[in-house]
Amino acid sequence: MNQLRVCVAGATGWAGSALARGIVEAADMELVAAISRSHAGKTLGGVIGREGLTTPIYGTAEDALKTEPDVFVEYTKPDAAKFHILSALKHGAHVVVGTSGLTNEDYEEIHVTAQEVNRGVLAVGNFALTVVLLQKFAEMAAKYISHWEIIDYAHAGKKDVPSGTARELANRLSKIREAELEVPLEKIEGPRETRGARLQGTQVHSVRLPGYIISIDAIFGMPDQKLILRHESGTSAEPYVNGALLAIREVGKLVGLHRGLDSVMKF
Ligand SMILES: NC(=O)c1ccc[n+]([C@@H]2O[C@H](COP(=O)([O-])OP(=O)(O)OC[C@H]3O[C@@H](n4cnc5c(N)ncnc54)[C@H](OP(=O)(O)O)[C@@H]3O)[C@@H](O)[C@H]2O)c1
Repeated sequence: MNQLRVCVAGATGWAGSALARGIVEAADMELVAAISRSHAGKTLGGVIGREGLTTPIYGTAEDALKTEPDVFVEYTKPDAAKFHILSALKHGAHVVVGTSGLTNEDYEEIHVTAQEVNRGVLAVGNFALTVVLLQKFAEMAAKYISHWEIIDYAHAGKKDVPSGTARELANRLSKIREAELEVPLEKIEGPRETRGARLQGTQVHSVRLPGYIISIDAIFGMPDQKLILRHESGTSAEPYVNGALLAIREVGKLVGLHRGLDSVMKF
């Protein structure tokens, strides 16, 4: 069997290290390179505590891409992500994006480059199956209910707002329609910020407080009734591994940018 050669940027991090372990256990994949600035020059096994894992860690994408991966996984931080993705595409790799915080403008640029080089990019704000289902249910609800808002919750230290999950959900719902507002934003009395940010036609509110782990509410309101779709994560990165492995297996069949794991799932 021809193994898929995979490079993980951010393989020493919380999400990336769980994925790296998953890749090592997958018979159809080989982890050929890892990226982390602070552990460059070491082997990944020693850093993430997995004996026998000799994958080299590089400090830059440029160096890691010399290993010629088939698939490059971006799991670092938004300030580095776009550069990594564009570099990987130019080196002939398909790209799976797990990093949150990229803007729609970033994704437009990535889409153009991916098409130019005939490679696929699969960007998934949340790889967990329960989130993929929430997105699907929300899309169904938005066809029937014209008023909705999103609340995204996370621990106090999460810098990027809103979460990748909230951004992706707003993007999906925008393809159905814009959420209606009873009182237009310009007619609000009081601080406008309290009504949240308008993101692709949806009001999005981000709560960042100690004691919270990542969760999201998509609230659909109709006169005298409402529907609340809620997703809550646990504390481990385990729920994201299987979805990311599926994305790695399927991204090579795509050209251009695709958002959401459901682009490669059957419903
Ligand atoms: N899509 C999903 O389902 C999902 C799930 C979980 C997390 N996420 C997102 O994934 C991203 C990573 O989250 P995390 O919690 O794993 O973060 P983390 O624990 O802080 O890990 C970040 C990793 O990226 C590396 N890194 C950071 N900046 C870099 C740079 N400029 N160049 C090269 N490597 C760099 C870090 O190593 P060095 O500092 O040594 O460079 C580390 O390996 C976040 O955007 C998060 O929101 C998405």
